[in-house]
Parts: sequence; structure tokens; C-alpha cells
Amino acid sequence: MNRTTPPDDSIVYLNGEFLPLSRARISPLDRGFIFGDGVYEVIPVYARRVFRLDDHLSRLERSLEGIRLTNPYSRPQWGEIISELVRRSPHEDQSVYLQITRGAAKRDHAFPIGVTPTVFLMTGALSVPTPEAVDAGVVAATMPDNRWLRCDLKTIALLPNVLLRQEAIDAGAVEAVLLRDGWLTEGAASNIFVVVDGVLLTPPKSNLMLPGITYDVILELAAAHSMRCEVRPVSEVELRSAQEVWLTSSTREVLAITRLDGKVVGDGRPGPLFRRMHGLFQQFKEQVKREPQRQVHA
Ligand code: PDD
Repeated sequence: MNRTTPPDDSIVYLNGEFLPLSRARISPLDRGFIFGDGVYEVIPVYARRVFRLDDHLSRLERSLEGIRLTNPYSRPQWGEIISELVRRSPHEDQSVYLQITRGAAKRDHAFPIGVTPTVFLMTGALSVPTPEAVDAGVVAATMPDNRWLRCDLKTIALLPNVLLRQEAIDAGAVEAVLLRDGWLTEGAASNIFVVVDGVLLTPPKSNLMLPGITYDVILELAAAHSMRCEVRPVSEVELRSAQEVWLTSSTREVLAITRLDGKVVGDGRPGPLFRRMHGLFQQFKEQVKREPQRQVHA
């Protein structure tokens, strides 16, 4: 089940209106539907505090620029819409999904002129990994990264990611770990960290991976707690010989991968650095939950 799919009666935002999902309608000619021509964000909300809104909105702006679509709203406007959606939801911890498409127009690959973008937001209960998944770790499988060369853009055209994730699931895994020309890029819907000789390694941001907000948090926590850490290309050989492999995302937080392609990682249990980082991440979340609530983030 999609973690951000709200129940049918929940309030969503569509083109200026808050309304129940069951009443939300878009045109079948929407370019999101016809071409996958749009971008999106997934933003976690902890105790009704929108997490790193500015960072998510900056990434959204970069994605919009990347597909040459003008941002339909200012930051304060985004802040107000998201705050209102969060306020109307019954859940304390949420996952806000937002997407912008190039709007509805006669089907033609070329950009339409004078068309209003479609803006859609929904929110649902944030479902984080189970304690069992945290304690035991998860299974992943490597796959060739066959996506395009702008993986830094968070576009709704996710068919390659969908196929890779499904291939992983069909192989009894929960995530695909992607390799391009012998180098680690990221997961189908996550970033990847490895521990080699006690050093935390992760690839640098580039056009080949999505710059994860959780990735930033992990690097900040590692630096703040003097964990040895290097941001540099990670080879397939290093991935396969790593003592620990982790995946990170807004909805999965940080999880240890304890089996990769059917082989145990380290001793097959989440490693010591993972347990430390997971603890730091939970502490950090608790801190966020105690921060003063801001209505609008400018
Ligand atoms: N996906 N890489 C890819 C390809 C992703 O789709 C995601 C997140 C990430 C991690 O980014 P962040 O830490 O900002 O969540 C990395 C979201 C959760 C999704 O599509 O549902």
C-alpha cells in the first residue's frame, strides 16, 4: 500500500481548493497523466511540525527549474497550504505528498502556452518502519541503474523506479540498490550509505541520484557526533564487502540492509554504527516534536 494514500474521505488540496479526495477531479488530458510531465515532493510531519519545509521547497524549486515549469506559488503560499492541510488531518505524524504538473492541454509533446499548472496535495498518517524491521534489518537486491541522467529531479515519471522496486519485491527484497558502471547510485526510492572499515561512506550528490533530505540529516548527525564519514563515490566492490549497508528516506528513516543479493551483510544483523545512527535519528525526531509550532514557514 502506498504510505501516503489517504482514506477516501480525507481532505486534499487541488488547484486552490480544499476538498474531500472523493470530490477531487482532474482532466484526463492533464500532462501528468498523459506524459508524466510534473514534479513532486514527500514531506514528513512530526507532531504536526512540517519537517525541513525550506529544504523540501528548495528541492521542489530545483525540480521545477529542471523541467522548465514556473513555480505556481511563493514560499509563504506553499507554507500556508501545507499548514492548512496538516491542520485538517486527524494524524499527528503525517506524510504530505505534493505534485505539480504542466496542466491539461491538447496532447502535444511541446509545452502548451498559457496553461495553468495542476497543483495537488494530500496527506496521510506517516507510517514508519516497524520495530521488527529496525531490529532485524531488511533484504535488498542490486539492479543496474537504467534510469535517465537527471535522477536529481524529483519527477513524477517514476516508471523505471517502479519497475526496479517491483523487481526487487519479486526477488523477495524490499528495495533495489542501484549500480551504474560499477558505482553505487542510490535505491529505487531511497539513498544508500555503507560502512567500510568503520567509515561511513555515501556517494556525493550528482545528476545520478536524488539529493535526499534524510541523506542530509544522516550526514549532519554523523558530523555532529564525530562518526567517521566520507562523501565520495562508492564502488560495487565496496558495497559488496561493506560491514553495514543502510537505506534512508523520509518514510523509511534509516534502515539496515542485512541481506544483499541473498548474501548476509556483516554478521547478518544491523551493525553497531546503524544502531547508533538509528538512536540519534530517533532523538533528533523527538527534538523536532518539541520545537515551537510555526504556522507559516517563509
Ligand atoms: N522517495 N532517492 C529516491 C529515488 C527517492 O525516491 C527518495 C525518496 C530518496 C530519499 O529522499 P528523502 O530523504 O528526501 O525522502 C532518494 C520518496 C519518499 C517517495 O518517492 O515516496
